[in-house]
Amino acid sequence: MIAIYPGSFDPITLGHLDIIQRGSRLFDQVVVAVLRNPHKAPLFTVQQRLVQIRIATQHLSNVEADSFDGLTVNYAQQRQAQVLLRGLRAISDFEVELQMAHTNKTLSTQIETVFLATSNEYSFLSSSVVKEIARFGGSVDHLVPPHIALDISKCYNHNYPTANLATTAVIPPLQTIPMESPTGTIPEPEV
Ligand code: PNS
Repeated sequence: MIAIYPGSFDPITLGHLDIIQRGSRLFDQVVVAVLRNPHKAPLFTVQQRLVQIRIATQHLSNVEADSFDGLTVNYAQQRQAQVLLRGLRAISDFEVELQMAHTNKTLSTQIETVFLATSNEYSFLSSSVVKEIARFGGSVDHLVPPHIALDISKCYNHNYPTANLATTAVIPPLQTIPMESPTGTIPEPEV
C-alpha cells in the first residue's frame, strides 16, 4: 500500500521525520509530497526542500520525496496511493485535520486519511516554531537534522533584528505603497 505524506515541509523537522519513519514501517511506500504553493512565501524553495528531505530520509529505502500542485487527492490518485498520512500533535491539529480529511473524502471516496499521533517529544514542534527560534538567533539543532540546521543558519543573520531574504525580496519599495493623505483619501499614483 502506498501512502502520501503531504505538506509544506518548510523545512522538514524531527517531528515530520518521526511520522515518516513510523509510516515507512506501516506502508510499502511513503511518498513525502511537498506542495508547490504559489500563495506562500517560503524560506526554502521546493527544490531545496526536496533535497533536504532526501538527505534526511536516505536511510529509509521505501521513502521518496516528490512535489505536487493542485489537490492532494488528485496527486494521490496519480501516484496510485490509497492513503494520505498526517501527524496529529494536539487537539488544535485535530480540528483542522479532521476538516481536511472530510473535505478530501468528498473529493475522493477511494482515499483514506490515516493519522499517526506525533511522538510526545515533538508534540510542540512545527516548521514555524523552528523558523521563529532561528530568526531570533536560537539554536534549532535539537529540532531538525544537522544539514537543515546548517541551511537555516545560512538564511538568517543571527544578529537581531534578522531578515528573511526570501520574503523581504518581494516587499515593494516604500514609495510604491499608497500613503493615506491628511484628507483620509488615498491619492492616485503619479504617472
Ligand atoms: O504542512 P501543511 O501546510 O500543514 O500541509 C497542508 C497540505 C499541503 C496537506 C494541505 O494544504 C493540502 O493538501 N493542500 C493541497 C490542496 C488541497 O488538496 N486542498 C483540499 C484539502 S483541504
